[in-house]
Amino acid sequence: MKRVAVLISGRGSNMRALIAAASAPGFPAKIVLVISNVVSAEGLHFAAEAGIATQVIPHKAYRSREEFDHALNGVLEAAGIEIVCLAGFMRILSDWFAKRWQGRLLNIHPSLLPLFKGVHVHEQALQAGVRVSGCTVHFVVPELDAGPIIAQTTVPVEMEDTPEILAARVLGEEHKLYPAALKMLAEGKVRLENGRAVFAR
Ligand code: GRF
Repeated sequence: MKRVAVLISGRGSNMRALIAAASAPGFPAKIVLVISNVVSAEGLHFAAEAGIATQVIPHKAYRSREEFDHALNGVLEAAGIEIVCLAGFMRILSDWFAKRWQGRLLNIHPSLLPLFKGVHVHEQALQAGVRVSGCTVHFVVPELDAGPIIAQTTVPVEMEDTPEILAARVLGEEHKLYPAALKMLAEGKVRLENGRAVFAR
């Protein structure tokens, strides 16, 4: 069983979905640590109640991105973490960190990448007038929201959608997709090789 840390900054609904999935018998990964850079992140309470170790690493306590990332790396290594899942973690990680964890660092993004990177994702989708949107789980690389794609799910975009309505529809799919992608990585069904996601047959 792979030892997994989930990094959050807020609500943590994807973190909850990962914890729920990983608690099922036979799941190849165990969520052993939840880290937040924000002390008030709601997700921390749920994780603690679920009996999972939590840690706050306030980014403001560090002089630079690299110093924060080294502290984060130290905590992950001390806990024997093998896979890191970003789940609404609102910090850009340094190139050093992304390279240090490459192939073992996942993110979920609420669009069909490579469309609509960054923030205000659902506004971007509605503005573009797409008829489908969705979510993507990808390996993290130094460039933001640009890593090799592991899995995607689509949802329809309806005429009366607001960013909030579309976000909720996408989020429902995120909660299924992220555990599925983590399972694939933990089982060795996908790996990062020469900058591409390679899938086992
Ligand atoms: C999700 O939509 C995720 O795709 C994005 O940030 C949001 C986090 O939500 N990266 P939650 O904290 O998991 O509820």
